[in-house]
Amino acid sequence: MFLVAGYDTTTSLLSFSSFLLAKHKDQQQRLRDELRQLVKENGCITYQGIIEAKLLEACLQETLRLYPPGIQLERACTKACSYVWAPKLLEWLGYTDSLFVDLYS
Ligand code: HEM
Repeated sequence: MFLVAGYDTTTSLLSFSSFLLAKHKDQQQRLRDELRQLVKENGCITYQGIIEAKLLEACLQETLRLYPPGIQLERACTKACSYVWAPKLLEWLGYTDSLFVDLYS
């Protein structure tokens, strides 16, 4: 599970972010400037530096928004609750049934 969950997701993020940066050269230049500034300040790319790189974070988040690696989430109902928009939903499903949330809809 650990390997499967981490491999495709990371590959997809890195591929699509490279694709988007290649398409948007102005943003690529801004990101290069941010990373060069980090290297200037710390002498190399550090873990802390990456955490503080705001534009890098924004680029990765935007890539995940446009191209989510997962297509759906699965959830199982474990207790009774009600929703205003679907008061009968859980009665109809049963409390142990699975729900699928489509991430591309
Ligand atoms: C860009 C990279 C990644 C994305 C977009 C991503 C996305 C997600 C999402 C959305 C879930 C929640 C699924 C759910 O709630 O049903 C999840 C769970 C999980 N991810 Fe990732 N993931 C990424 C990287 C990784 C990496 C690198 C690892 C491990 C090395 C990993 C291991 C896991 C595991 C073990 C779970 C299940 C956690 C649980 O059920 O408590 N993921 N991931």
